Parts: sequence; structure tokens; C-alpha cells
Amino acid sequence: MDVKKLLKKMNLEEKIGQMLQIAPHNFISKSDTKIHGFEYDLGLTNKQVFSAGSVLGIGNAKEQQELQRKYLNDSRLKIPLLFMADIVHGYETIFPIPLALSCSWNTDTAFHSARISAVEASTAGIQVTFSPMADLSREPRWGRVMEGYGEDPYLLSMFVRAMVKGYQQDDISAKGNIASCVKHFAGYGAPIAGLDYNTVDMSRLSFYQTYLGGYEAAIDEGSKMVMASFNTFDGIPATVNQFLMIDVLRNQLNFNGVTITDYDGLNQVIAHRVAHDQREAAIQGVEAKIDIEMASSCYMKNIEKLIETSIINENDINAAVGRILSFKNELGLFDNPYGHANIDDEKRLIKSKEHLAKAKEIAQECAVLLKNESNILPLSNNSKVAVVGPYATSKSTNGVWSWKGSINDNISLSEALINQGVDVVYINGENPLPTDIDMLREIDIVICALGEDIEKTGEAKSIVNLELPLFQVEWIKLAKILKKKVVTVLYNGRPLVLNNIDQSDAILEAWYLGSKSNEALTDLLIGKINPSGKLTMSFPRHEGQIPIYYNHLTTGRPFNKDVHNIYTSFYLDCERTPKYPFGYGLSYSKFEYENMIMSDKEIYLDESITASITITNKSNVAGYEIVQLYIQDEVSKIARPEKELKGFKKILIQPYETKTVKFNICIKDLSYINSLGETKYEYGRFIIMIGSNSNNVQKKYIFFKENNNEDKKYTW
Ligand code: BGC
Repeated sequence: MDVKKLLKKMNLEEKIGQMLQIAPHNFISKSDTKIHGFEYDLGLTNKQVFSAGSVLGIGNAKEQQELQRKYLNDSRLKIPLLFMADIVHGYETIFPIPLALSCSWNTDTAFHSARISAVEASTAGIQVTFSPMADLSREPRWGRVMEGYGEDPYLLSMFVRAMVKGYQQDDISAKGNIASCVKHFAGYGAPIAGLDYNTVDMSRLSFYQTYLGGYEAAIDEGSKMVMASFNTFDGIPATVNQFLMIDVLRNQLNFNGVTITDYDGLNQVIAHRVAHDQREAAIQGVEAKIDIEMASSCYMKNIEKLIETSIINENDINAAVGRILSFKNELGLFDNPYGHANIDDEKRLIKSKEHLAKAKEIAQECAVLLKNESNILPLSNNSKVAVVGPYATSKSTNGVWSWKGSINDNISLSEALINQGVDVVYINGENPLPTDIDMLREIDIVICALGEDIEKTGEAKSIVNLELPLFQVEWIKLAKILKKKVVTVLYNGRPLVLNNIDQSDAILEAWYLGSKSNEALTDLLIGKINPSGKLTMSFPRHEGQIPIYYNHLTTGRPFNKDVHNIYTSFYLDCERTPKYPFGYGLSYSKFEYENMIMSDKEIYLDESITASITITNKSNVAGYEIVQLYIQDEVSKIARPEKELKGFKKILIQPYETKTVKFNICIKDLSYINSLGETKYEYGRFIIMIGSNSNNVQKKYIFFKENNNEDKKYTW
């Protein structure tokens, strides 16, 4: 399709239509699509509706085909509709929530889950997914941390890349692929006080060093679309923020693809009180080069007049529509408007045996063993077990943003344990504790299946209390009164404050692992699979510590436990460290790290050196260990974090085997980004750290020098 020629044939109304995205129910009365936003009447005429260029969600292949057919019948130029939807962690085969996925520290899990999501969603006629969410977050109060990949920019970027690759592969028009729209540009994961949609107030330094990398990685990997975020940035809503949308996105990151607002985002500029009305919002949107307006009608109702009165230049509209049409062309829609929607493929591929098997395998990698006193786990063969608490009988393990997933496909933890032959002698999924506790007496282990209500996680689900409700903790207390061992399995979508479940002998962080959650967890509990996940967000001891994250700066008065000095940076009423740090997670194996070696003490420009360490599995259980590399720039022009993740490896170590792990360190790993977004290199001393988590590392020093004659240690 020659987009330029097509553009010339289009009248203004048709062009403006391309810039509107609305939900299917505007076109057809009934639809299976779940909308994640406040629905109100946009006041569009039937003609305007049928000029819209894209659709937010679609129920299935049949619905897509019917809608596309109806639309094209009435359309003068036969420009197909484009179907986009939130396929965040699976279509009908549901994978672990993204936060859990990142705890696998294996980007293959992201790639394969995105692949399968793309295969399933494309059979239903979806051509673009609003994923990955590349918003870095240090805010467990914010319900959307479940949708992200943790607190670290490096790890986040790796996962985001794998997701984009999994959805798109190398060709968005090919069967089984869909295009990715990275979101929410930018800074949405840093709302003040963890309150969703709240103001974001960050320095340019934080923006460039910490928050931008995730979106940049997605764009670099070829993500075709970018969604603007709801928040303000420097006081200007991101949707119309020209620094973000033009200076950074278009100019610094060279993004030439299509931008879209978030749901009703352009209209919300009025609520932010940065525009008086929809007319002003439309002007600001066009000026920020926002191509598609989702679920509001500022463009549709105003652009024509704004062009007539020369307030908006039609060339800007042509540029936006040109981008949209080129994208439709790249998706192959002009040749085949239905994309890969296919009822037979839907039946054959969605929730296929292979897809579900992969979902289970991935889920097994994502749970994190937080505690395992006296090796109470794995369960021994002859243990008599009780399974209690709200998740004992619940199948609700998909996690939100899985609108096509059905919990009826899942099984509960008690069912899964029974299926694996565990001697489950008592099950109680009801809230009130039993009055008759006699049956609990013959039990060896009480598995408390506790957690957050799924509806307390996700968009608009901010909370201030991160502790489990008391009625849930009562189960642990009761078990302890009866002198039973307690294994707590936690289902949640954010780091929680876990002090009140400290009495548990073992804690398995289960997150929401999707369709195969409880089968996967059972394999871990019985030791068929050895847990290997590690945390990608710090777990605080108290809500008052938030935001708490491992890669913080030092202060001028750092706390030193060995020196008595009250004028240091500490809390009077709480330790300053997290309860469980970033990178932490246990295994049934016992790994010992020793003998860290650097290939050289000095590194010069354009060189690289190797850091290695040996790890021995001092147990009779084979297991995967996630080995982490951190670096600290000791002294630099601007304060640098205490440590930053620069590499990781997940390796299988057989019983009593010793393996050497090597990391290649290059000059790029020693660089930092300044407040203008420029990469800077400074000579001097660096601390190289390798360990099992961010709080347990071995250290070596290296010098970065300009050349081996001169010691430029302290010059820049
Ligand atoms: C969310 C987006 C989502 C959009 C469309 C919004 O409320 O913030 O992440 O893609 O709805 O469903």
C-alpha cells in the first residue's frame, strides 16, 4: 500500500478518525472485552464511531471478523480497523504476573510467555498488545507493581526486551506475532506516596539514570508503539508533555512509531487543570505528537475547526495519520484486514497442552522461597498435612490483567497437593477459624495459604497497609499453639510487610503464577522441583521505610553499626535494612561462594576484564543458583549508588559440584548517565561485587585508567 497516495485521497474527517480509538461496544452492542477505565458516553455520532481507526479490545476471532466486515462495508477507502488489547501476562493461558516473572531471573520465561500470548491473542484477531509495562517502581503501595519487572533498571530492561522480542519476533505481520506498545511513558511507576495516578516529581538525574532505561530498551528492541502515562511530569501531564514526547521520545530515543494516550488520558489534561477544555487538550496533544487518542474525543470533536482556524497545521495531522497508516501497512492489514483471526486456530492453539505445560514450567521458576527453617521444606513423604486459609480452596491465582483467563481452568492448592499424593487430612478455606480443632491434632504440618485479595492489586489499587489481615494470621497462631510446623504460601502482587507471619517455619512467595500456579507450587513444596526464584523488589520491614530499594545513594552521615553515633542516617524505631533484600531467595540446595578472582586489577579504555567466582553445591539436591554481579563507582563527580546490578547468571549445579561463574566487565559497565541523559566515563577505583543477593556479596577492587602509563585515578 502506498501510504502517501492513500493519505492524499483521505478527507479531513477520515484522517481524524484514524486518530481515535474506542472500545468495541461503541460499534456492537455486546462484547466480551473488559475495559480498565471509567466508561462514559463520548457523545460520538454513528458516523464518527465508524470512522475510528482502532479498537480497544475484542472478544474473539468471530467478533473481530464481524466487526471488521461491518466496518469495511461502510468505509469509503476501506482502511481496516486495528485491534489492540491488554495482553499482559497471557491471553487464555495465563502466565505469572510480570513481577513474578522477573523473579525467575531468566529472560526466557518472558520471551516464551510473550510468544505464547502472541500466538493465542493473534488467533483472536488482536494485532497490538499494550505491553510490556516498562515502569520501574520502588513503590509497593502502588497496585501496579505487579505489572512491572521490579526495582532495578538493568533487570527490568532485560525483561522488557525479552517481552518485545517474544511478541513481535522479527516481523509483526507474520502469523503468530503481534506488535508491542510499551507503556506508560514516562515515570508512571513513581507516583508520590504510591497513590495511583498521583503526581510524579523526580529529578532529571533520576529520570535518565533510573526510570528511562526500561522504555528505551523496549524501543531499542523495536517496540512499535508507545503509550503516554497518566501522571504529570514537571507539572505537565505526560500525554502533552513536549519534553517527554518530543525531546526525549522522538529526538533522543529516535522513536518514529505511533504514540497513543492512555485511557481517556487526553481528556484528563483538563482534570490536571492544564487545559480549560477539550479544544485546548486537542491542541496540546497534537503539539506533543500524540497520534491516537484512546477513549476520549478531544481530537474528533475539535481538530477540524482548529485546522479551519489555522490553530493546528494540517501537516501535523498528516504526519500523525501517516505514522498510523504505515503501521497498519507494516502489520499487513491492507492485504489482510482480519490479520490472523481464525476460529479454527483459536480452538487448536488457545490453552493447548503445550502452552499449559510451558505455563507450569515458567511458574515453577518464579516462586521465591523466603524462609525454610530446619529444612521443613520439601515436605517429607509421610507428613500429614492441613491446608488452610483463603487460598486453600481458591482457584484465583491468575492475577489481574488476565481478562481472558478463566479461574475455572485452574485448581486450588489443596486439590493440587492431593493430586500429587500428599496426605492432606484437613482443608479449611473459610475465614473463621474452626471451633473444633481436634482434627488438627494429628497433623504434622499446617500449610497456610494466605495472601492479598486479587482485587487489591493492579490499576487503581493503592494501599497503605501492607500486612496480611489479622484473620489470616490467626491461622498461624492457632497452628503454633498446637505446636505444629507452619509453611506459609503467600499469594500476592506486591512486596508485603511480613512481620506478623514470622512464626512460620517456611515461607514460599507464590505471587500469582497463572493458570498452572498451584500445580507448580505443589512441585516446589514436595521437592519435585527445587525453588530458584529471587526477589526483584525489596520487602520492607515496615511501610514507613518505603521507598526502600537496594541501589540507593549513601548519605553524608551513613549509619555504621560498629560506631556509636546518633547523628547518622537510621530510624529510631526500625532497622534501616529491608526484611528481604533485592536478589534474595533460598533453595533446597546449599550454595557456597568462594575465591572471587579478577583477571586484572586495571582496566583501560575499550578493554574488558573478567570477574569470576566458584560456587559449590554443598547438598545432595541439584539446584539453580542466580549469581549476581554488582558494581560501585567509589568516587565520582555525582553521588553514585552503593551498588548497581550489572550482570547475573542462572546456573544449574549438581550435588557437591563446584562451578566457576565468569562475568565480563567492560567500560560501559563502569559508566553512568548524567542529568542531560549523556553517558559519562570517569577514571578511578571501582568495587566489583559478586554474590547470592544484593546484601551478600564478595568484593574486589579495580582501577579504570586512561592508559597504563598514567595514573589518572582522581581526574576526570
Ligand atoms: C491502563 C493501561 C491500559 C489501558 C487500556 C488504562 O487504564 O492504564 O495500562 O493499557 O487502560 O486498557
